[in-house]
Amino acid sequence: MKLTILGGGGFRVPLVYGALLKDRAEGRVTRVVLHDVDAGRLRAIARVLAEQASGVPDAPEVAFTTDLDEALRGAAFVFSAIRVGGLEGRADDERVALAEGVLGQETVGAGGIAYGLRTVPVAVDIARRVARLAPDAWVINFTNPAGLVTEAMSRHLGDRVIGICDSPVGLGRRIARALGARPREAWIDYVGLNHLGWVRGLRIAGRDELPRLLADPVLLGSFEEGRLFGADWLRSLGAIPNEYLHYYYFNREAVRAYQEAERTRGAFLRDQQARFYAGVADPGVPALELWNRTRAEREATYMAENREAAGAGEREAEDLSGGYEDVALALMRAIARDERATLILNVRNRGTLAPLDADAVIEVPCLVDASGAHPVSVDPLPGHATGLVCAVKAVEREVLAAARSGSRATAVKAFALHPLVDSVNVARRLVDGYTAVHPGLAYLG
Ligand code: G6P
Ligand code: MN
Repeated sequence: MKLTILGGGGFRVPLVYGALLKDRAEGRVTRVVLHDVDAGRLRAIARVLAEQASGVPDAPEVAFTTDLDEALRGAAFVFSAIRVGGLEGRADDERVALAEGVLGQETVGAGGIAYGLRTVPVAVDIARRVARLAPDAWVINFTNPAGLVTEAMSRHLGDRVIGICDSPVGLGRRIARALGARPREAWIDYVGLNHLGWVRGLRIAGRDELPRLLADPVLLGSFEEGRLFGADWLRSLGAIPNEYLHYYYFNREAVRAYQEAERTRGAFLRDQQARFYAGVADPGVPALELWNRTRAEREATYMAENREAAGAGEREAEDLSGGYEDVALALMRAIARDERATLILNVRNRGTLAPLDADAVIEVPCLVDASGAHPVSVDPLPGHATGLVCAVKAVEREVLAAARSGSRATAVKAFALHPLVDSVNVARRLVDGYTAVHPGLAYLG
């Protein structure tokens, strides 16, 4: 079975390959094709993968190409993990937004809109090519902003594109652990959009244990989201939000923390990865060791400014070991082998959240088998969460419309309607600032 990875020179590809190496079952991936627009990055990642595979019998064969169509032909699965504009672009997204006093994060607020505006046209081109060259392939989208990009691709691929994120699984795992339960045995009642969802219940043997957690300040202080949001606020909400909601509920503090930081997240990763890719180009440097060290540093500093602003301390050791590759592999296996699984995924709504239309991509627990991912029915969100979800979905729709029409006015509307952008004038300046620095936004006339 052939798996194609777009963004194959990306830093997190060895996580996926490491998970493939552990898969010994019948029907597993035997051939991996890495596609990237940058041959140098492909060579660097090739060295890491070769070291990972050394000594592993029947390791999946790996091929590399900069030809997208060749990469797609014959693929059973396509993982799409691209970064349009690179980490330099991510750092620019943050800088332009923070200078206007708004958030530049790659998925939330102004930064997410800017990143979406330059990613959607590329993702749509990929989706069209998949539909033409590999119509039976399943596309698993990792590319951020994941919900928006998945929705853009779903207009060409229908339910054959599924978006993934590891943050809901990580959250569920942390809550289960805090309650002394095994994550596998817990049913997590989670719904929303990508990076904009809430755990409203966690049932173990049919019993909702979330009230017990919310009532106990010691338990709430024992895991990341508990410390990030604080016991009082979580009790007021009666739910545990995804960590990305820290950018909404504590927006002022988050913006200030990133303005005052020595470097933004994007700038930190840009510099860190520049060192990594330059280092691996030296054949004397042990590639896998350097990759491991770089990855550990990346994990340890994830959302550091938010945690610092909240006084939440360091991340737990158990939270440092990824999880994103596990979601992707579990999804691929469930489809390829028709092994029923329940996973929280980004799929079309189809009536799951009544205020949104059927084609809106949401993040929700799904039953997965060979026929794809099917959202389970969930309780409605409370008013304030529905309001946020609808507002952000409306913004996403403006981004999709601007990407399709090339209308600058529509791009301004996308920024201006976002709940975290506080003036139409700010939105206008953001469009000016972003189009001035991003060649990928030249299409906005
Ligand atoms: C989490 C998020 C992903 C994000 C990743 C890495 O897993 O859910 O969407 O890509 O963290 O974040 P970083 O800031 O290290 O790029
Ligand atoms: Mn994510």
